[in-house]
Amino acid sequence: MSFRASVLTLYPEMFPGSLGVSLAGRALERGDWALDVHQIRDFATGKHHVVDDTPAGGGPGMVLKADVLARAIDEVADDPKADERPKLLMSPRGKQLDQAMVRDLALGPGAVIVCGRFEGVDERVIEARGLQEVSIGDYVLSGGEPAAIVLLDAIIRLLPGVMGSDLSELDESFENGMLEHPHYTKPREWEGREIPPVLLSGDHGAIEKWRKEKSQELTARRRPDLIEKSKE
Ligand code: ADE
Repeated sequence: MSFRASVLTLYPEMFPGSLGVSLAGRALERGDWALDVHQIRDFATGKHHVVDDTPAGGGPGMVLKADVLARAIDEVADDPKADERPKLLMSPRGKQLDQAMVRDLALGPGAVIVCGRFEGVDERVIEARGLQEVSIGDYVLSGGEPAAIVLLDAIIRLLPGVMGSDLSELDESFENGMLEHPHYTKPREWEGREIPPVLLSGDHGAIEKWRKEKSQELTARRRPDLIEKSKE
């Protein structure tokens, strides 16, 4: 069984979006992953299909209703007891997404991803359905949909067959806890700037050493926190 993403949103037309194009789009067509998107409003009851209400205790904005979201979550799983996919809620309050989390998710059966809107989601449905909150960074989007697309994009490129390379062979930013070394391609000289001669030397040992040094220099300069983390 390939990776399956079920997305719950008030804006299903935002999907597949960029996930239908390029690498992720071709992988979707091949069946390397599967996507189903569900309109949360379809699970609202009553004539007006109300999905939100005012916050208890007062204050601005609206809150996504627990019963509506719970019904949506319960119905997207084929068999809620057998569906072992983690249930995620995209939210700026969540644990910040990193490559380790992406890798763990890519090794699993998929994910049920809830995209929040408004001021938030009734806390009781987060507890009752065991939603894990995931943030893509310390800034506030108008909704969780772009965050879900970011998360899925990062996962999909790691799925078997998608990039034609083994997970363990990846040598790029964050896969080894470091930023990537600089890249160059022909011509040898452009606007007076030369490709570093070592890269044209054919000496693979020297090239490897140079790349490692550049990667370390760049990481130390831009992301000293990553160096500290690698020492832990
Ligand atoms: N929804 C709004 N802002 C978000 C963020 N930074 N990460 C994930 N979901 C969000």
